[in-house]
Amino acid sequence: MADLQYMSGFCNEFASEDPRCPGALPEGQNNPQQCPYGLYAEQLSGTAFTAPRTENQRSWLYRIRPSVVHKPFEAEEPFEEGDRGRITHDWDSVKPNPNQLRWNPFDLPKSDAKVDFVQGMKTVCGAGDPKARNGIAIYIYTCNVPMGDKSFYTSDGDFLIVPQQGGLLITTEFGRMQVDPNEICVIQRGIRFSVHVDGPSRGYVMEVFNGHYELPNLGPIGANGLANPRDFETPCAWYEDRDVSGYTVISKYHGHLFAAKQDHSPFDVVAWHGNYAPYKYDLSKFMVINCVAFDHADPSIFTVLTCQSNRAGTAIADFVVFPPRWSVQEHTFRPPYYHRNCMSEFMGLIYGNYEAKEDGFQPGGGSLHSMMTPHGPDAECFEKASTADLKPHKIAEGTMAFMFESSLSMAVTGWANKTKVDPDYYKCWQPLKKHFNPNWKPALKDKAQKK
Ligand SMILES: [Fe+2]
Repeated sequence: MADLQYMSGFCNEFASEDPRCPGALPEGQNNPQQCPYGLYAEQLSGTAFTAPRTENQRSWLYRIRPSVVHKPFEAEEPFEEGDRGRITHDWDSVKPNPNQLRWNPFDLPKSDAKVDFVQGMKTVCGAGDPKARNGIAIYIYTCNVPMGDKSFYTSDGDFLIVPQQGGLLITTEFGRMQVDPNEICVIQRGIRFSVHVDGPSRGYVMEVFNGHYELPNLGPIGANGLANPRDFETPCAWYEDRDVSGYTVISKYHGHLFAAKQDHSPFDVVAWHGNYAPYKYDLSKFMVINCVAFDHADPSIFTVLTCQSNRAGTAIADFVVFPPRWSVQEHTFRPPYYHRNCMSEFMGLIYGNYEAKEDGFQPGGGSLHSMMTPHGPDAECFEKASTADLKPHKIAEGTMAFMFESSLSMAVTGWANKTKVDPDYYKCWQPLKKHFNPNWKPALKDKAQKK
């Protein structure tokens, strides 16, 4: 494994040079008449030029060739015959399905098939339109071979990648990063990257078409807590000067894949500076805030990253985790409450067992509770938690579940509607019994609790 170097901080103004070329960053200006080492200067804009200074994101790249040196893009053939909807944002051609959905673990590629990260990516659900820069798409990837002389970028949005099985060595124009299960990474719109895997690998991707992921505001929590900025890591500059005949750059554009050939590696950025750069984050570093008296804080307390809509406090997408933590609330039903939401909730499991449903929801699978579709603990969990001894105890040990939550009402693709869907999911709630007793009187201990 290469010795990978990172810089700490969330969307800082970074500056990085590959140590093989000291002084590659121009001094005192961005675009000199001649760059050091004969490099080309290229700006990558992540926001409009005129975006407010607090939101403005761009980076300057100093590279061996500008990225415009490629042959024309041509539409990619679909990888699987008859599965043209592999990557799609065509939500109108699918039949709406308001049911609670649960997927068994998505199939890894067969051992005799060779599938790379891009070939193994499929849309599960989403809403909106990258052309209007408003929306979200959720994908599953399953792959077993490196991308090799192929790179990928999306013009449509920012990728948040959640590996579930198998680590990813990701080479980007900004440098290389190793992203293992229980870590995540964000690769923003336009940034080229190539994924190397060592074996069967699976994970989740959430793409936002609007703006960029940011850290949630902390309000009364204060200056520290949840995902702390210093724990985000951005790769240091790394380049290869490699001529390759028939190198392929794949562009995702308006929800379709296009391929262009060029005769060199695109990972030829010797130095860069700016605040528009990929990053990774180790979920075990999330500083959990939770209720220490009674009742529940809403799950927004577990938000790692958010992409906001134009309406204050309403997310196009939140990335939320449910890490190991202490559960200590008194006289409280401790599992997640029964819920109907004006948001869509897609959940995945990296490893372990999710507390509200110990069976059926498996690592590498998923669930979707759509707009206003009821959900909550299964019957077994309700009965157990209603009479449990409420001592402090550690929950979610050895577990990392997460949620992609969106204010948009997501449609499920034809592929996801028929693949690995658990037809019995609804049955987990059917045994929920009627406990209603019109003659109920508060027990003495209940009266005492309320004083
Ligand atoms: Fe919910």
